[in-house]
Amino acid sequence: MTMAMSIAQFTFFSRAASSSFLHRTNARFNQFTFSTPFSTAAATCTRKKNGRLPVMSALELGGVKIARDDVVRDDPTNNVPDSIFSKLGMQLHKRNQHPIGILKNAIYEYFDANYSNKFDKFDDLCPLVSVKQNFDDVLVPADHISRSYNDTYYVDSQTVLRCHTSAHQAELLRDGHTHFLVTGDVYRRDSIDSTHYPVFHQMEGFRVFSPKEWEASGLDGTSYAADDLKKCLEGLARHLFGAVEMRWIDAYFPFTNPSFELEIYFQEKWMEVLGCGVTEQEILRNNGQLDSVAWAFGLGLERLAMVLFDIPDIRLFWSNDERFTSQFTKGKMGIKFKPFSKFPPCYKDMSFWINESFTENNLCEVVRGVAGDLAEEVQLIDNFTNKKGMTSHCYRIAYRSMERSLTDEEINELQRKVREQVETKLNVELR
Ligand code: DAH
Repeated sequence: MTMAMSIAQFTFFSRAASSSFLHRTNARFNQFTFSTPFSTAAATCTRKKNGRLPVMSALELGGVKIARDDVVRDDPTNNVPDSIFSKLGMQLHKRNQHPIGILKNAIYEYFDANYSNKFDKFDDLCPLVSVKQNFDDVLVPADHISRSYNDTYYVDSQTVLRCHTSAHQAELLRDGHTHFLVTGDVYRRDSIDSTHYPVFHQMEGFRVFSPKEWEASGLDGTSYAADDLKKCLEGLARHLFGAVEMRWIDAYFPFTNPSFELEIYFQEKWMEVLGCGVTEQEILRNNGQLDSVAWAFGLGLERLAMVLFDIPDIRLFWSNDERFTSQFTKGKMGIKFKPFSKFPPCYKDMSFWINESFTENNLCEVVRGVAGDLAEEVQLIDNFTNKKGMTSHCYRIAYRSMERSLTDEEINELQRKVREQVETKLNVELR
């Protein structure tokens, strides 16, 4: 992704317009706590039009039936690959013995204990949302880079795989919720390395105050909400990390003003924990909260889980290998992951003349499409422009399995396919 993100995709929306496998066919079917009307994806379909069986039969998410044909289409307005469709419905955040689920529950515990169960919890909202929900409702500008096809997965021109849990703020406000936590899988086209994966998980928090709550304090509504927000999140950071040093950084998000990032000093580094702020009045007004103020925050579960559980590679979250899954226990936060033997990586370089439409995210999508989770990193190692104005890029692809040794034949075959597809799909000239 073009926007600067330090570790495990976090604040795609911060810094004004600059800025986590194995295929499973038994996607979990869920209980629905909440239903999002979503007409485009509502069709049930068990067989592809060409007669082949779909990668996965219809699954239900957030009360909506989703079939492969509803998400992956051979149409220029669609950029969702099968590798992404296969992640829909996995809902790592609903597995109580998985680091992501354990962390979600620890955060729930904090809110339940401190706000006597006042926060309504949603973790089953449909990840297919409208462009309006994902962007317009939270005031993301029309020209914001996050709206591009290079950065977001579009099902069609009006429908995306949510790129953040903020996409649900407006609908929940309209439904009358004033205290809520939304956890879910979010999707972003991105680069390939140990902290970036095109699917990861976020939790959104939201709290509305009515005038009588701040009037007695002598503060204006915005200052009152900002103070409360900071106290709440400092308490959450201490609940998760213990007695750490913290600092607040001014930030920019389209949906909040003022906006902040919370950093903690952990393992000898300042680390961004979350983004937050006082909700823009326009969002409240548009959704039936006329005199209120509110705060909101959004945090990336992978980035926190990676440091809290010592997990070195974001792909591990998707592993079904027992050597990974058996290390975690429901309700236990203190566990540190013990790496099982690390297999050697294999590097392959590839050079080509790029064209105007070339982007690294498109290259990474091709690599993930061929190699899946065997692709560990894609790195630009050389870049030059010749006298004729042609630009050459050399990328180094690291292939490594988390679970086994790869054979030379296997890797050569992957690389052959990558080269072939880079040429045909990206229209670049291999050197
Ligand atoms: N949606 C932001 C992101 O994905 C995170 C965020 C920041 C959510 C600030 C919020 C907020 O609710 O107030 O980068």
